[in-house]
Amino acid sequence: MEPKRILVVGCGAMSRAWIKHVQGRSDAVIAGLCDLSLAAAQKRAKDEGLDCPVFDDLARALDRVAPDVVFDITIPQAHRQVVTAALAKGCPVFGEKPMAGNLADAKAMVAAAEAAGKPYAVMQNRRYLKGIRALRGLIAAGAIGEPSFITADFFIGAHFGGFRDEMENPLLVDMAIHTFDQARFITGADAVEVSALAFNPKGSWYRGDAAALCQFRFANGALFSYRGSWCAEGANTSWEAAWRVCGTRGTAIWDGGPSPWADVVAKEEGFTRPTSRVEAPKDWAGREGHEGCLDALFQSLSDGKPPETDCRDNVKSVAMVFAAVESARQGGAWVKVG
Ligand SMILES: NC(=O)c1ccc[n+]([C@@H]2O[C@H](COP(=O)([O-])OP(=O)(O)OC[C@H]3O[C@@H](n4cnc5c(N)ncnc54)[C@H](O)[C@@H]3O)[C@@H](O)[C@H]2O)c1
Repeated sequence: MEPKRILVVGCGAMSRAWIKHVQGRSDAVIAGLCDLSLAAAQKRAKDEGLDCPVFDDLARALDRVAPDVVFDITIPQAHRQVVTAALAKGCPVFGEKPMAGNLADAKAMVAAAEAAGKPYAVMQNRRYLKGIRALRGLIAAGAIGEPSFITADFFIGAHFGGFRDEMENPLLVDMAIHTFDQARFITGADAVEVSALAFNPKGSWYRGDAAALCQFRFANGALFSYRGSWCAEGANTSWEAAWRVCGTRGTAIWDGGPSPWADVVAKEEGFTRPTSRVEAPKDWAGREGHEGCLDALFQSLSDGKPPETDCRDNVKSVAMVFAAVESARQGGAWVKVG
């Protein structure tokens, strides 16, 4: 079978990982690079040793390359325009998170994928890790009983420069999408409402709000509490966040590394119950991060089945983000998700 011809749109920092993935596959090839900045596309071609056409105009790139798949690795505000243009040409899209810079755009992108009858799937690399797969397995197996109170702490002092420094809600829109999506993945439940505060701590180098406190109510009655900051200097958590999942029979802990564990009630006696330690089974054999998610996206194309990060599912994580943004705008009022 001929390798799938990929058009990469957006040739900034993140495009390196996507291109490297394709260069490691035998069933796909980079057939074109496109960026608003022709210099960025040319630099990416040179740095990755690519001998393919470069463009600064998406419509022309789509016509000339006639790709089998478009990679959208542009900035969040550009995702709708890029994804809908590709879908309108009947071309499947794999794109970076977050789907869009607002919920209306994300919903329009789902509608465009449905109208085109072509897949649009989203990069949620933080689902593709041995640790989170083990944690999810532990919880799904009932080790801690029914999860009812989930907390995630995310504290990293990230000096990016670039588009994030100018966003209104860099933490909630560009980062918490990962953690909120992880909460849905870990619990298998969807959020129904949220109360959130967003703020920009003293000393922050971001223009917009780089910190937030959010509490979500899930459809199964569980509560999810998120505390996050992208301008926290020192004592950083992992990028996966630090998780505590309290269930009816015990508590699971995950620091973002490969080995989550749980303490589970061993005997019904005593003021605090004796517990036994349970290590999560590590039976997931896939690759991790971008490699793992892209493996799943390419697999979904050959199977003709939607991947777990299909836009119709991912929009539910995006809805959590923008409900939190809206709640924060209203000073913490409870806002329905979606
Ligand atoms: N999954 C992850 O862990 C992860 C990590 C970092 C970034 N990202 C995401 O990847 C995307 C890109 O981030 P980045 O760090 O590479 O940003 P970047 O600023 O380094 O690169 C973005 C590139 O897109 C180009 N661009 C912007 N609008 C465009 C348009 N309409 N058409 C063509 N090109 C356009 C810019 O010129 C720039 O070269 C963002 O959505 C970001 O949230 C994801």
